[in-house]
Amino acid sequence: MKKALITGITGQDGSFLAEFLLAKDYEVHGLIRRASTFNTDRLDSIYIDPHERGSSLHLHYGDLTDGTGTRRVIEKVQPDEIYNLAAQSHVRVSFDQAEYTADVVATGTLRLLEAVRDYVWNTGREVRFYQAGSSEMFGAATPPQNETTPFYPRSPYAVSKVAAHWYAVNYREAYGLFICNGILFNHESPRRGETFVTRKITRALARIKCGRQEKLYLGNLEARRDWGYAGDFIEAMWLMLQHGEAGDYVVATGESHSVREFLDVAGDCCGVAWNKHVEIDSRYFRPTEVDFLLGDASKARRQLGWRPRMSFPELVRMMMEHDLELARQEQTLAAAGHRVITRGASHA
Ligand code: NAP
Ligand code: GDD
Repeated sequence: MKKALITGITGQDGSFLAEFLLAKDYEVHGLIRRASTFNTDRLDSIYIDPHERGSSLHLHYGDLTDGTGTRRVIEKVQPDEIYNLAAQSHVRVSFDQAEYTADVVATGTLRLLEAVRDYVWNTGREVRFYQAGSSEMFGAATPPQNETTPFYPRSPYAVSKVAAHWYAVNYREAYGLFICNGILFNHESPRRGETFVTRKITRALARIKCGRQEKLYLGNLEARRDWGYAGDFIEAMWLMLQHGEAGDYVVATGESHSVREFLDVAGDCCGVAWNKHVEIDSRYFRPTEVDFLLGDASKARRQLGWRPRMSFPELVRMMMEHDLELARQEQTLAAAGHRVITRGASHA
């Protein structure tokens, strides 16, 4: 039985990857942060109380800002594969919390790589390492972007991901470690955090449809993204670590749409004329924007046999249907006299 350690297991991708690996009979270990409230909602469907037998999912407290603790988790778990997905992953927020973002995303990755380097040296075992890179690293580079496109990051988040990328390359070359950088374009799902634009839109349009919200405040509607389905993209992470040779791969759909187009498709799905409800609020603009991302994933297709399965309209519909169901549940609770708070419109 292979063992995998996932940092960021409580996030969108971490939860999909954990399910995927459990279905492949891995023993899955995840790093979770201590929080004052439960932060394992996305793992609810696969979590089994450790007091019960048969659980292959194990959670460990840790934080990428705490190198010693993370190092101990690696030594205890003895993983065959490590997927480093943990990050302060919100681009807009990274302008407000630049140092923290760098500490987690860039230096956090370095701490992990140092721990892996020592673990491999001390034990002689092989550990395969996946680093969650981002299309944000391309930033202002002319599309389509592939593995040979020079990076031009446009936010503290993106600069930190570039640093993490090069740390990973350097540790591969300097110490012969099996390390892959995935350069993933935007990927979404019903589990997407509600402050990212796609989920913010589907949550809000669903509530508008159910009469529970009137306005949706957004920023730049002209930005273009290559949006895919998270469930498809996490498979590419695993395929990279099963390949004969470590390398860096762009993972993308090869199709780009604007935020405005996302609104059009989502509005059609639920029968809401979004332009009657959307207002532009400058707080959602970024000091430096990434205007146009479009990925060329032909290397991943050629070498890993990976290709996306879900189309853009299917993805939007899946998210819209999920959030309509949530809005209906909120409506039912409200009708029964419960206080249901709608936060969506004011967040990042
Ligand atoms: P996400 O939903 O925001 O999840 C981020 C995860 O990182 C959460 O589990 C979070 O824990 C954890 N985390 C944050 N700060 C941490 C810290 N200091 N120490 C340990 N864990 C920490 O992100 P995602 O969409 O799943 O993305 C996964 C990774 O892929 C991220 O590195 C992201 O930057 C990268 N990426 C994402 C996309 C995309 O479109 N989704 C595209 C390219 C790259 P809490 O639950 O406690 O907050
Ligand atoms: N979040 C947000 N909120 N974005 C908005 C809004 C809004 O109200 N209005 C317009 N946008 C625009 C942003 O300016 C950006 O151009 C685009 O919508 C997408 O924003 P996000 O959904 O926040 O995602 P992102 O592209 O900045 O970053 C995501 O994808 C990256 C991969 O390219 C994150 O998941 C990153 O962690 C990931 O690396």
